Amino acid sequence: MEVIIQQNKEAAAALVARIIAHDLRANPHLVLGLATGATMERVYRQLVALHREQHLDFSLCSTFNLDEYVGLFPSDPNSYRHYMDHHLFRNVNIDARNTHLPNGMADDLDVECRRYEAMIQRFGGIDVQLVGIGKAGHIGFNEPLSALRSRTRVKALTPTTIKQNAPLFRGEDNVPRRAITMGVGTIIEARRCLLLATGDSKAAMVAKAVEGPITSMVTASALQLHPRCTVVVDEEAAAQLTEKDYYRWIFANEPEWQDYR
Ligand code: GLP
Repeated sequence: MEVIIQQNKEAAAALVARIIAHDLRANPHLVLGLATGATMERVYRQLVALHREQHLDFSLCSTFNLDEYVGLFPSDPNSYRHYMDHHLFRNVNIDARNTHLPNGMADDLDVECRRYEAMIQRFGGIDVQLVGIGKAGHIGFNEPLSALRSRTRVKALTPTTIKQNAPLFRGEDNVPRRAITMGVGTIIEARRCLLLATGDSKAAMVAKAVEGPITSMVTASALQLHPRCTVVVDEEAAAQLTEKDYYRWIFANEPEWQDYR
């Protein structure tokens, strides 16, 4: 795992967008794993800007999102399909047929979860998986006690997650109780993982995920098992990390990061 600390939210998101853009230019057929949430809005703004200003080409790439709420139509403003269309897909030259999210309205949710896993396999697996971290320490909607080898399935949301997402739904009562999410096992099979976390509300969970023990109570900690995982944080989200000087030295000196400094 590598940790990159940036001055602020904007710089952290810009760095993540540049890493994605670099990998997309190197492989126009890239299979991108995508995430939602307020943190990622900045990344998508940056990617849209790179498309408009530097002709970043999405025409051949495919995407798989981490998760989707159960019971929301794609047209619902709170569905993750709507979020993705609004923040990214509609604003770049991606082929809508290559954009994938689990269908939270499927008649048989278990069949839908298996279909989603099979589709990822059919595309050859995910090249770069973008992930955020929830206040419950989750990646995707892998709430505490999610098996570290879990696959795409339906998960019940914890009270912490329901509370975190309530403002968007105008109250906790309106937040769906379940979601389809890629499993922890699905996520860490991606060839590269990129975790972005910003703001002081994420500091405690970032410290647990990066420097704490691997535990299903903090599913983001499973990223420690990944051979190629980059964690990008701003100063606020980095506040509780103990080895910051070491992380800064690596970013400042290792040749791999030369183009990103
Ligand atoms: C939801 C998503 C997660 C995301 C988290 C954090 O729970 N399922 O994938 O990481 O929100 O969102 P935010 O960036 O708004 O803090």
